[in-house]
Amino acid sequence: MVPKLCVAALMFVGAAMAAEISYPPVTPVTFNKDVLPILQKNCQSCHRPGQIAPMSLLTYQSARPWAKAMKSAVVQRMMPPWFADAQYGHFTNDRSLKPEDIDTIARWVDSGAPEGDAKDAPPPVQWPADGWLIRPDLIVQGPVFDVPAHPKNNVVEWMWVTVPTGFKKDTWVTAVQIRPEHPEVAHHMCLAFKPHTPDVKYFEPVWQDKSRDEEGSAIPTSGPTFGGRTNLLNGTRGLEDCYLPGMVSDDYSVHNAAKLIPAGWDMMINLHYTPNGKAVTDHVQVGFTVAEDPPQRQYVSLMTSSVQDPVHFAIPPNDGNWQSPPAEVTFNQDVELVFLMPHMHVRGKDMTYTLEYPDGKKEVVLNVPRYDFNWQLGYDTSIKVPKGTKLHVDAHFDNSINNKFNPNPNRTVYYGEMTWEEMMNPFFGVVVDRNIDPKKIITSRGPTANGA
Ligand code: HEC
Repeated sequence: MVPKLCVAALMFVGAAMAAEISYPPVTPVTFNKDVLPILQKNCQSCHRPGQIAPMSLLTYQSARPWAKAMKSAVVQRMMPPWFADAQYGHFTNDRSLKPEDIDTIARWVDSGAPEGDAKDAPPPVQWPADGWLIRPDLIVQGPVFDVPAHPKNNVVEWMWVTVPTGFKKDTWVTAVQIRPEHPEVAHHMCLAFKPHTPDVKYFEPVWQDKSRDEEGSAIPTSGPTFGGRTNLLNGTRGLEDCYLPGMVSDDYSVHNAAKLIPAGWDMMINLHYTPNGKAVTDHVQVGFTVAEDPPQRQYVSLMTSSVQDPVHFAIPPNDGNWQSPPAEVTFNQDVELVFLMPHMHVRGKDMTYTLEYPDGKKEVVLNVPRYDFNWQLGYDTSIKVPKGTKLHVDAHFDNSINNKFNPNPNRTVYYGEMTWEEMMNPFFGVVVDRNIDPKKIITSRGPTANGA
């Protein structure tokens, strides 16, 4: 028999615990009331028909089978894709979920993923049916390309295609969207601009020379080289805007800036398709919004590279943490740094951008500790950078068997633009006064894509 005193004591403890924890009245978490608003804001840009994600999260019916996968993806912070270390920098396009949103999705799944009352649902988002997220004033027609279902080795190497812009006068563009018809097979598409030359062949794919084959053996090349072979960017002002999964348009107007495209220049489009087993015909279009008057400030896309001499870029076999030579630029002007985008290939592991101010102070402005080649994300920011500041970028590569994307840990990997080679290219964007010569903004230790 339990002594009375004991029971009383237990009752007292129970009462104290209840008082301390005091649960709020239980309102069930439902799809319509709690989860759908999160999906609309953070997931549907990719998770709807015709976009890059494998399933739609527009409705309860389409989302419900994925409930468990959604919980695990958000709890592990795999989704939405966002790789910046939250300790450093501040990004205006930060799409990572707030802890309370993660908690809401987890509690919804744990309570059986109920639909709830239709009256609680927010109205559906009006996604543009034609795929244009900007309202273009001008549309330039890109190439039409047949993407095979199953090419050799399952790879279509990337190509350049030159097209006329048709711009009759110098044009200040305020936003750019590169719009593939089939985002599901578009790995990336980037633009470069160059003066028109009479010998240009429009709409004819030009494939990159290879300086090494897939086994890493050198193939002799001649002519001006970049990473060992002809640089197709010669004569352009560098690689500019890109379409990338998760990065669909570039809007300079948010920075009160615009980008100049001189009259009559041609546009080169770099296209890389990743076949997915279903043959499609893609047609790329590039839309621009245009400023009526020249802006106060211009947007300039820049890039640097760790490579001064490609010979020194060689990742040893089975090295899980190879540090490449750093990339470094000096700013010769006051700039506003507004965009950062690490670029490496499948062995890329991490990348860190550090500013070294003229007074010696150092500031990490972006750290991507877990780089993922499938997500070439850009990070929007706003940092006033005084003249004389250096940008120093460090990166590591994982050429070991632990890297699940590594096709072959047993070979030395050299610098190059082919998928089986490696790159270490920090891209960035700055805004400067309109009258500043874009070529004089930075001095780079290694070669840059804009010839500076
Ligand atoms: C920038 C585009 C993008 C956004 C935003 C995004 N996703 Fe995804 N998601 C993808 C793509 C592409 C895949 C397939 C490839 C992969 O798994 O990385 C995917 C895969 C997934 C998967 C895994 C499916 C499986 O095979 O297990 C889940 C679950 C998921 N997403 C949930 C979400 C949720 C929930 C959100 C919002 C909180 C979200 N995603 C936001 C693009 C996106």
